[in-house]
Amino acid sequence: MGSKKLPVDNTAKQARPFLKWAGGKRQLLEQLDTYFPDELRAGQLERYVEPFVGSGAVFFRVVQSYPLQECLIADINAELILVYRVVKQDVEGLIAKLREIEDQYLLLDEANRREFYYRVRRRYNEQRRITQFNTYEPGWTDRAAYMSGGQVQEPKNFERRKSAPRGAAIEPGDHSVL
Ligand SMILES: C[S@@+](CC[C@H](N)C(=O)[O-])C[C@H]1O[C@@H](n2cnc3c(N)ncnc32)[C@H](O)[C@@H]1O
Repeated sequence: MGSKKLPVDNTAKQARPFLKWAGGKRQLLEQLDTYFPDELRAGQLERYVEPFVGSGAVFFRVVQSYPLQECLIADINAELILVYRVVKQDVEGLIAKLREIEDQYLLLDEANRREFYYRVRRRYNEQRRITQFNTYEPGWTDRAAYMSGGQVQEPKNFERRKSAPRGAAIEPGDHSVL
């Protein structure tokens, strides 16, 4: 009643989380929706602040459902924020890099896929020492691709090591949702 929720256009692509992230709220969205403040439903809120954005399940739902003017997302995980900032600044570059990684990977047999995965992971870990997380720079695009594509290279039934890129995946063919 009195809701200003935007009409859902089922033909349009809705942006949705592009990372697999521990504790993501994607499965709970319908339940969470009932707890949103009446002012949000009534279109009386202009600013949305999400201090623990994670994979952004709640963020994507809220910003595409209500007429907000301004959104602020934050997270303590600098690697995660780096990916969001690359999506904001250089999404085409990120998609191109992910496609490049995917193409290289798909050409390989299983043994070489493992080797490829380890190589990408090594590069990702080595880069960490020289990455400045505070100031955006174009070099971040590769890092965001290594991080967000990390599990794409991971072959099925591949034992996950503690040092593997944590918590993120963009499924092959899923890049258009970014
Ligand atoms: C479960 S996830 C959030 C889920 C998300 N809101 C969603 O919509 O799916 C929790 C996030 O909180 C972040 N976090 C934990 N402690 C934090 C802190 N003190 N400040 C900022 N972020 C924090 C973690 O890095 C993690 O990404």
